[in-house]
Amino acid sequence: MKLDWGDKYKVGHQPFDNQHLAMVELIWRMTELAEKDGEKNAWLALLDELISLALEHFSEEEAELEKRGYSELLEHQDEHRNLLNELLEIRGRQEKEGSQPSLEVTEFLANWMAVHVGETDGRYRRLFNK
Ligand SMILES: [Fe+2]
Ligand SMILES: [Fe+2]
Repeated sequence: MKLDWGDKYKVGHQPFDNQHLAMVELIWRMTELAEKDGEKNAWLALLDELISLALEHFSEEEAELEKRGYSELLEHQDEHRNLLNELLEIRGRQEKEGSQPSLEVTEFLANWMAVHVGETDGRYRRLFNK
């Protein structure tokens, strides 16, 4: 699946749109590396960058949604937590087996971004459009 970027992913809150785009760009770079069988250390560095960006973004997003009394916050937090667990598991596996650029991983990440940002994050858009 080719992850793209456009208005359908915008949530109406500039800092979050910027963070989403930064995450998408990291996934693009990881995909590029995996496609050309790229350098292992570069791959691991991108994965680490994605994990720290996700941690930062999720906590800011959850704090803002809580502040605005968002009714679907708990389900939303669950999706974040699941992805973080997946990311840490992927990271742990790479540690054990040696880092390896993998299209299976980038495919999973691209899908997750499309579904979570496109649909789940999209549901809170109304909070910022009042
Ligand atoms: Fe989210
Ligand atoms: Fe988000």
